[in-house]
Amino acid sequence: MRDSTAVKDVSLTTITKAYEKWAPFYDKVYHKMLQPSQLKAVRAAMENGNRVLEVGVGSGLALGYYPPEAEVTGIDLSKPMLHKAEEKIAAQGLKNITGLAVMDACRLGFRDGTFDAVAGMFMITLVPDAEAALDEFMRVLRPGGEIVLVNHIGAEKGPMAAFETVVAPLAKKLGWRANFPLQRLRDWAASRGFEVHDVDPHGPIHYFTLIRLKDRRAERAPLAA
Ligand SMILES: C[S@@+](CC[C@H](N)C(=O)[O-])C[C@H]1O[C@@H](n2cnc3c(N)ncnc32)[C@H](O)[C@@H]1O
Repeated sequence: MRDSTAVKDVSLTTITKAYEKWAPFYDKVYHKMLQPSQLKAVRAAMENGNRVLEVGVGSGLALGYYPPEAEVTGIDLSKPMLHKAEEKIAAQGLKNITGLAVMDACRLGFRDGTFDAVAGMFMITLVPDAEAALDEFMRVLRPGGEIVLVNHIGAEKGPMAAFETVVAPLAKKLGWRANFPLQRLRDWAASRGFEVHDVDPHGPIHYFTLIRLKDRRAERAPLAA
């Protein structure tokens, strides 16, 4: 397993420590709860082609959902979570997972335009500089590719928004982040020439949302005179 997390960032250490604790029982808690969202994200990513980068792949809960023709690379900050993913690949005999690596989503060790889609499931709200991560996803995406995210997105107003603000420090300690507005993703997309072409709230009380960001830079670029 490759490890390119050379920079020891304090916030990254918090995440790494949190997921070291989560790794032994993460699957038991989240398998059923996250499955419908992960299936949606995998299907959306595969609409763009076979080469998928799954960022924050964690224990690999979604790896078994990719079709045989997929060529999936998974990266994550947490070695213990990736070890769980390795165990799944071996146990399920998954031939379509081309590699796993310890890597920060904001410093991806891949060439420009390597992937047809970048999928981030339940991870983008954990990245302190989410826009920097999105810029990296954009860099490693081929022109016209897609960033597929699925997450709990913070409520923008009302009692739920107030509650999420109050519990934010506790959520951070647990390796979660409750108050992340959708507008951040919309603003990033608008500033980079991406289209927010699907926002799909789903699951119990619409707690999770699938967000698809399509690269439209080529279509929006002004024509040369
Ligand atoms: C809630 S888990 C989700 C795991 C998996 N995507 C799933 O759907 O089950 C979040 C994962 O994101 C990883 N993560 C958080 N910040 C990251 C970063 N900056 N770069 C890479 N992985 C990160 C964590 O280590 C953890 O494994």
